[in-house]
This record gives sequence, C-alpha cells and structure tokens, in this order.
Amino acid sequence: MNAVSAASSKPSTPSATAAPKSAGLEGIIAGQTAVGAVTQGQLLYRGYEIHDLAQNATFEEVAHVLLVGHKPSAAELGAFKAEIVAERALPELVIDTLRKTARLPNTVPMDTLRSAVSLLAHLDPDCQDVSPAANLRKSKRLLAKIATIIGHMQNVIDGRDLVKPDPSLDHAANLLWMMTGKKPTSEQARVLDVSLILYAEHDFNASTFTARTIAGTLSDLHGAVTGAIAALKGPLHGGANEMAMEMLKEIMKDVGEAGIGTAKVDQWMDKAFAEKRKLMGFGHRVYKNGDHRAPILHKLGRGIAEKDTGNPGGHPALAWFRLGEQVQKIMLDKKQIHPNVDFPCGLTYFTMGIPVPQYTPIFVASRITGWAAHVMEQHANNRLIRPIAEYVGRPQTKW
Ligand SMILES: CC(C)(COP(=O)(O)OP(=O)(O)OC[C@H]1O[C@@H](n2cnc3c(N)ncnc32)[C@H](O)[C@@H]1OP(=O)(O)O)[C@@H](O)C(=O)NCCC(=O)NCCS
Repeated sequence: MNAVSAASSKPSTPSATAAPKSAGLEGIIAGQTAVGAVTQGQLLYRGYEIHDLAQNATFEEVAHVLLVGHKPSAAELGAFKAEIVAERALPELVIDTLRKTARLPNTVPMDTLRSAVSLLAHLDPDCQDVSPAANLRKSKRLLAKIATIIGHMQNVIDGRDLVKPDPSLDHAANLLWMMTGKKPTSEQARVLDVSLILYAEHDFNASTFTARTIAGTLSDLHGAVTGAIAALKGPLHGGANEMAMEMLKEIMKDVGEAGIGTAKVDQWMDKAFAEKRKLMGFGHRVYKNGDHRAPILHKLGRGIAEKDTGNPGGHPALAWFRLGEQVQKIMLDKKQIHPNVDFPCGLTYFTMGIPVPQYTPIFVASRITGWAAHVMEQHANNRLIRPIAEYVGRPQTKW
C-alpha cells in the first residue's frame, strides 16, 4: 500500500516545502484502505453502513466482516464463534502478571491491558510470523483473550475469585459476566454488543495509524496492537469515554441533581468555556456535523436508563442522561460542537454499572478487530510509513 501520499509523490530532492503539510496531518490522505470509510455523510465497514450493522448485525458478525473480509454464512459464523470461544482462556503467566500489576498504585486498566497483550506475544506460537494465515490466527486469539484480560483484571481489582469465561455466552454477554460475575439481561448484553459494533473500526484514527506504522516496518501484530493500545489510552482519543463520565460527575457534584435543567449547568459550562477547557466526548477531527455513532448509542443507553432502578454514582441513571442531554444542548447552542460516540458511551456504561476505568479497555475489546484488519492489510501490500518533517530548528552551526 502507498502509505502517506505526500511521500509517494517522490520529489527528486525530498524537501519539506515540496509536500503538503498540516498540523496533526489534518485532511491529509495518508494511504488507502478497503477496511472502513469515515466521511461526513456515512461510516462504512467494508461497505456496510453503521446504522444497518447496529440494527441488524452482531459484534461477532462484524468481527468476521472486518477480520476475514466478508459477511459470514451461518456455518462460517458458527465456526468463527467456536474458535473465539476456544481461545478465551489466558495462559497462567498472564493471569499471574494481572494479579501482580492490576492493583499497583500508579496503574490504570489500560496499562495493565497493554502489558498483558505484550506478554501474550511471548507465548504465541505465531508471534514472529506476519503471513496472512498467521496474522488471522493471532487476531482471533487476541479478540478472544482481550475480553478475558479485562474480566480477570476487574476481578483482581475487586478482590474476588476469577470469573471463568462462559462458553454459552456471546462475546459481549461473556465480557459483562466475567467482569461482574452476574449474568447480564438480554438488553444489557445487546446494548454492550452494539457499542462494540460502533467502536470496531474507524479508518486512520490515531491508534489504527499507530498500528499500521508499526506493521509497516514488518513488525508483528502483537507489537502493533500494544502500540495501538498506548495510543488509544489518551484522552483526546479512546480515553475520552472515561473522561466524559468524569466530567459529568464533576458537573453533577457542583450543580446537584436539583440543578439539572436549570441555569446552574449553563453557568458551569460558561466557566469551562472561559477557562478554555476541552470538554471530553465532544468534537471530532473528521465529523464536524455530528458523529454517526453517537445517537445510536445514546438512544440505547437512555432506553436502559429509563427502566433502571439502580442509582449509579448516587443518582438515578435517567438523571445522568438528562444532565448529559443538557450539556450536549449547551455545547451545540454555544459552540456548535457535537458529541462524539464517547459521550453516550460514558453515560451508557455508567448506567450499566461498569467501572469507569474499564471503558477504554472495553473499546480495545472491540477495536482489536479494526486494528488487526488494518495490520493485515498493511502487511499484505506493505510500504514503510515514513513521512518527512519540516525543519524549523537552528540553522547549520559550527560545533
Ligand atoms: C477530538 C479532538 C481532538 C479533535 O480535535 P481537532 O480536530 O484538532 O479540533 P480542533 O482542536 O481544531 O477544534 C476546533 C475548535 O473547536 C474547539 N473544540 C474542539 N473540541 C472541543 C471540545 N471537546 N471542547 C471544547 N472545545 C473544543 C477547539 O478548541 C477549537 O477552537 P478554537 O478554534 O477556538 O481554537 C477535539 O475535538 C477534542 O479534544 N475533543 C475532546 C476529546 C474527545 O472527545 N476525543 C474523542 C474523539 S472521538
């Protein structure tokens, strides 16, 4: 593949001024992909539109579409699901490391997950093999095992016995089961399943581009995914789903449940604007008229909150949604900035009682499919990804 179109124009004397430049590579076409398409108008995974997938597909079907490349037949889906279920168990070394790292004082779950994925490389018989067949085998193993890492890690954090994977449960339901030791309702399982569908693929976002850059040196899938996890962790990328919920908690603490729907929320937001604060879960590098995924998840999460009798964070789940909706309206009215998928994700996972620090790891449990599809695409038609920089430092100086 031709990575970074700027480089592919091959100027006779490479120079910074000959190439298009853009802060943060905004608007630069950095290569080609057949995995997914992100445009203002729609989001496609290998040609399938995201609303269609959220309505009609399951996460395992979407994973098959991304990893194998086509919509599975019933027999193919059955075989694919059986392979994933068979790969769920973790090696003892990884479990032992989870026990030793998950509760370290300076550790967050994304760090534990990153280290565990890196450790899995040592134990994978295909680790050094970047052939298409080996990459596909490793992708399925990572897809299966990342969910178990998240579940077991949460068990360690909670100080409980490890909850073993349940082979009768699909990916999303099993993830909830392993994290909590409680069988989810079919609605909870479906809402998590749809959130995994929505998070699975998003063309050259920062973590996928990281994975492709690593793969472009002909390095291996585990290394590319480890790097991608590090990139996803940041609050400007996947970490935003956790930070969005933290921000809502902060607003709720300041205005109180009685303050929802009143000018108190406007005042909180005005102060944040005056301080030039970035409000997490809002804005997007590509989508300037709204994120296609956000309303889908908002509706589903609200549906759970409307029935919920629990009190996440000490307030009814619906109160959190009402607060979130007011914040969204203020952002749109005053800043013309739409929520991205991380905003309803925070609200939805909070309603479902999922611990906030696991929101971004759950994003990984889904995006592993998109990353792996991109790594395979990169390896299949590789060209080293190596842009050029514009030098703005000191002119040549004698030592
Ligand atoms: C996602 C994000 C990094 C995209 O950034 P970007 O394409 O570089 O957008 P810009 O920073 O150029 O934003 C354009 C303007 O909108 C403002 N803006 C964008 N997102 C904002 C946000 N979440 N809160 C407040 N202001 C925001 C910027 O400050 C900038 O204002 P200015 O022109 O007065 O300086 C950015 O919107 C952001 O930081 N969002 C919060 C983190 C987040 O939710 N990330 C998940 C993305 S899926």
